[in-house]
Amino acid sequence: MESPVKPLAHVLKIEPYLPGDSAVAGVTKITKMSSNETPLGPSPEARSAALGAMDELERYPESSAAIVRHALAERYGLDARRIVCEAGSEQLINLIARIFAGPGDEILYSAHGFIAYKIAALSCGATPVAAPEKNLTTDVDALLRLVSERTRVLFLANPNNPTGTSLPSGEILRLRRELPESVLLVLDGAYAEYVQDEDYTSGLELVSEYPGNVVILRTFSKIYGLAGLRLGWSYSSLELAMALHRLRGVFTVTTMAARAAVAAIRDQDHEQRARDHNARWLPWLNEQLSALGLDMTDSKGNFVLARFASDEEAAAADFHLRSSGVITRTLKEYGLGDCLRVTVGLEEHNKALVSLLQEFLAGSRGG
Ligand SMILES: Cc1ncc(COP(=O)(O)O)c(C=O)c1O
Repeated sequence: MESPVKPLAHVLKIEPYLPGDSAVAGVTKITKMSSNETPLGPSPEARSAALGAMDELERYPESSAAIVRHALAERYGLDARRIVCEAGSEQLINLIARIFAGPGDEILYSAHGFIAYKIAALSCGATPVAAPEKNLTTDVDALLRLVSERTRVLFLANPNNPTGTSLPSGEILRLRRELPESVLLVLDGAYAEYVQDEDYTSGLELVSEYPGNVVILRTFSKIYGLAGLRLGWSYSSLELAMALHRLRGVFTVTTMAARAAVAAIRDQDHEQRARDHNARWLPWLNEQLSALGLDMTDSKGNFVLARFASDEEAAAADFHLRSSGVITRTLKEYGLGDCLRVTVGLEEHNKALVSLLQEFLAGSRGG
């Protein structure tokens, strides 16, 4: 029998988020290169800090994750009161949409921006508006052209997932300067720790210049290897932080996550190892795949985006990889059915991926 209770109409417009796969039926040895997780895992210090929290499972966590906020404040020279922690930055994306937009409002993002922005817009009844890109890169002018009286929030991931491309700090500053004051600019730096370009900024310093309308998002899921514990954070003015506190989950950041995060921030050697590993293998993967005839973006994250000749070729390549247990990310829901996103893995994973794709393309293109 059909249920007599009905979800709101705007909720039915949402296509549920499809995470990167973790398993292939009938294949036991899996190499997961589909979710931008670090192949080095978390700092051993973070692991023991999480285990240390096992003796306190009956206790509620400290609600504001104060130890994490203070550790971040110390690391980046920030005001701990303006940091808000949640169970993953994806939660903060949803909160921001709900706090600042509703039916009749618009939420703007770049055409191949992280898909959570579109889902967040639909979930609060707002209209998602996607600005065209140039060469799979955010186009500031296209975003500015699409700003209307109804635009409330602009989400921008820098570097972006799944394209990997990023904007230099000058373009970010120009975007903020040219946006109306009434539009909240949310800069999502999920991959910020990986970027080593001199002209890159995650935007933390923009908060003092534009306290009224900038929020920065960061996460412990990527370089810190704590995706499974769920912890993301925002930095903004105190006023905007207080708005987030009104709706955030009260006990969503667990004691385990908080302890592990503090240890992870302090283990700068481990973080540097993860950055160095990426700095070595990201260009290697790009060069190798490009030499195989695939179009690659200039990714600054911990993943590459490979474009095949067609959707069919990408799907066949995905099938070939999966049959050998290598899982990458297909991107149909991004309108990138001809692409696969590949997370940088350990040396043997990267090499296995390249030789499987070489074998596939030699067969399919007759090379
Ligand atoms: C650009 C971007 N923002 C946010 C997130 C969400 O991260 P989390 O909710 O794990 O903190 C991701 C994860 O893939 C991402 O790629």
